[in-house]
Amino acid sequence: MSEQRYAGRVAVVTGAGSGIGQAVAQQLAAEGATVIGCDVDAEGLAMTAKLVQEDGNAATMVVADITVPADVDRLVAALPEQRVDLLANVAGIMDHFLPVTELDDETWDRVMAVNLTGPMRLCRAMLPLMKARGGGAVVNVASIGALSGAVAGSAYVASKHGLVGLTRSIANLYAEDGIRANVVCPGGVATNIGRSAAPKVPWAYQRLERSFARTMRTATPAEISTLVCWLGSAEAVNVNGAVIASDGGFTA
Ligand SMILES: NC(=O)c1ccc[n+]([C@@H]2O[C@H](COP(=O)([O-])OP(=O)(O)OC[C@H]3O[C@@H](n4cnc5c(N)ncnc54)[C@H](O)[C@@H]3O)[C@@H](O)[C@H]2O)c1
Repeated sequence: MSEQRYAGRVAVVTGAGSGIGQAVAQQLAAEGATVIGCDVDAEGLAMTAKLVQEDGNAATMVVADITVPADVDRLVAALPEQRVDLLANVAGIMDHFLPVTELDDETWDRVMAVNLTGPMRLCRAMLPLMKARGGGAVVNVASIGALSGAVAGSAYVASKHGLVGLTRSIANLYAEDGIRANVVCPGGVATNIGRSAAPKVPWAYQRLERSFARTMRTATPAEISTLVCWLGSAEAVNVNGAVIASDGGFTA
């Protein structure tokens, strides 16, 4: 990627240590952004830093858990001159395809914390910084589980539907501050998300498997990052509050 759409811009990417977040961090750095990547996985972040470096670019990596308020504060403190042009909320976890009757509070709380409360806290912390400089962009990575109840467990589906609501609220309330917020809904992508996706309740998974039969193709992380980076760029100036699937036609 030689285009320098992000020259002079600062981008924060959560979940930068693996999968889609790693690809987004790599692409943004290649497009000229000053990238601040965060993840709970220090080894994953080190790998991302290495990949970015191999491309001839640089990025700052912050080991941080987006569910911990003090870690969010550290992330904000790492911003150069308190500047952020793009917040890409990519970090997320699955819920082992648990249906609501088998759902434990711990799983619900953790999935909500990572997939919804964390992005909310980051938006709450960073939107004022965007506003102070005349604008910015938020790109939240949800899932086709934000559009349908048929692809994951109850907690994941609820968290991703919630992320769409949060995004639309921001799109409405902050457009006049020059801030845009959009959602990307990937279908299947080859990443490490499987760490929280081992099915735990056979009957529920069997019912969900019927919809998985619709999977046309599994995407690469780079195929999702192209959409994230476009939405965050000035090219998408008129796109605000959009919920865009990148699923190879799964939801068509
Ligand atoms: N892979 C898919 O098929 C798929 C499909 C639809 C949506 N998504 C979404 O894409 C996003 C990225 O997932 P991925 O597929 O690249 O998975 P991944 O597991 O490869 O990457 C997710 C990263 O988020 C990090 N993370 C988890 N909890 C965190 C926390 N509390 N604080 C900071 N970082 C944390 C993980 O350590 C990991 O590095 C997620 O929001 C996921 O829900 C993925």
